[in-house]
Amino acid sequence: MGTPAWLATVLTLFPDMFPGPLALSLAGKARDAGTWNLEVLDIRDFARDRRGTVDDAPFGGGAGMVLRPDVVDAALAAVDGRPGRRIYLTPRGRPFDQATARRWAGEPGVVLLCGRYEGLDQRVIDARGLEEVSLGDFVLSGGEPAALAMLDACVRLLPGVVGADGGLEEESFEDGLLEYPLYTQPRCWNDMEVPEVLLSGHHARIRAWRRDQAEQATRERRPDLWARRPGARPRGTGSDM
Ligand code: ADE
Repeated sequence: MGTPAWLATVLTLFPDMFPGPLALSLAGKARDAGTWNLEVLDIRDFARDRRGTVDDAPFGGGAGMVLRPDVVDAALAAVDGRPGRRIYLTPRGRPFDQATARRWAGEPGVVLLCGRYEGLDQRVIDARGLEEVSLGDFVLSGGEPAALAMLDACVRLLPGVVGADGGLEEESFEDGLLEYPLYTQPRCWNDMEVPEVLLSGHHARIRAWRRDQAEQATRERRPDLWARRPGARPRGTGSDM
C-alpha cells in the first residue's frame, strides 16, 4: 500500500461548486492518480428542521443572515475523524499565503468550512477552535472560490504533482520575491526583442539578471514583501532601498 491520499474535506451550502476547476488540469490529474481526494458535504443536510433552515438574523440587529452554530457544529461533528486543521474561510481571517499552503500540504489533509451570508455564529468558531483564514483583502460572496484557490495551491505542492523540472523552487514567493519576467519564441515580436542576456547562454549572467528583475518587481509592486524578505534589515536601521 502506498501513502494515503491527501484528503480535502469541504463543508458548503453549494456543493455543486466542487470539484469545479479542481477536476481539470494539474489538480484533476493528481486526483485521478490518487494523490489527493476531495469529499464535499452539504451543510444543509445538517439542518435541524424539515425546511432545511441553516441561518437566522443576527442578534443585535444588522444586515444579512448568520449561519447557525448548531447546524454548523453538526456538520463538523460528521467529519470528526477526518485529518487536518479545521479552517473557516472568512475575510476576517489571517491571510492565506504560500507558507500556509506548504504547511497544509505537509499535513494529511485539511477541512475547509465555507461561509455564506454575513458570517458564522462566533460560538461554534470558539467551541471547535476553528482557524479563520482569508484569501485576501476583498469580499467574496462566499468561501467557496477561496476554498478552490487554496486547495489548488496545496495540491500542486503534494509530492509528484509538479514534476522535478516544474520549477517549484524558482516560483514567486518561494524565496520571498516575485518571479522574474519570462520570454519565449519568437525572438522578435511586434518590434520587441527578447532581452539579450537571455540569449547569451551565460548561465551566471542570466541568473544575476533574473535575480535583479525579481528584486526590482518586488520592491516596486510589493513593498510589504520586500521589507520582510529573508535578509532584510529591520525597519529603522537605515535605508535598504
Ligand atoms: N468569504 C468571503 N470573502 C472571503 C475571503 N476574502 N476569503 C475567504 N473567505 C471569504
